[in-house]
Amino acid sequence: MGLSTITGLAIVIMGVSGSGKSTVAESLANAIGCKFVEADDFHPPSNKEKMKSGFPLSDSDRIPWLESLRDAIKENIEHGHNVTLSCSALQKRYREILRSADCDYKPGNYSLCKVKFVCLEAPVEILMERMERRSEEGSHFMPSRLLQSQLDLLQLEKDEAIIRVDATMGLESISEFIIDLLNRNWNL
Ligand SMILES: *[C@@H]1O[C@H](CO)[C@@H](O)[C@H](O)[C@H]1NC(C)=O
Ligand SMILES: *[C@@H]1O[C@H](CO)[C@@H](O)[C@H](O)[C@H]1NC(C)=O
Repeated sequence: MGLSTITGLAIVIMGVSGSGKSTVAESLANAIGCKFVEADDFHPPSNKEKMKSGFPLSDSDRIPWLESLRDAIKENIEHGHNVTLSCSALQKRYREILRSADCDYKPGNYSLCKVKFVCLEAPVEILMERMERRSEEGSHFMPSRLLQSQLDLLQLEKDEAIIRVDATMGLESISEFIIDLLNRNWNL
């Protein structure tokens, strides 16, 4: 078999704040026995401060952050490790940076790319409610008023082979669904 059998896969759980990315990515990593990377942990303090103050990040804030995530993915897949990542990855150009972690990736050849995307989707009222709960608990730096700016940025192109999942399903069902996809070699 070719080289592709010895490289790992990266599964990026993407979506806006409140969609449950971190919970799903971590639980999936535990279920399949691989590493979990939390994209929020890669933000420099300046990015976190900016979001905390209610300002959306600009591309010049985001790009170096995405590049450091790409390097983290690359490090894993090149060593044959699978990895899950929770990352908003709202725009195609951001996802292309993450896809470039796969050195065999040819831009546009999404289905062969070893960086896979699963987008968690939920109605805006549910997202808002989850974010408000988290900010009351003081457990997250993203104010709920930034949700709209994230929803405005979210772009999913049909041909990009992004798996869309209903984030209101239970955690277990979501994990099972993704594991099933993995077992079928990501064939839809
Ligand atoms: C993707 O790569 C495969 C294998 O190299 C090739 O057969 C296919 O035509 C490519 N598809 C696109 C859309 O580039
Ligand atoms: C990575 O995931 C694929 C697909 O589930 C699996 O076939 C492979 O064995 C996994 N690799 C490792 C190192 O666990």
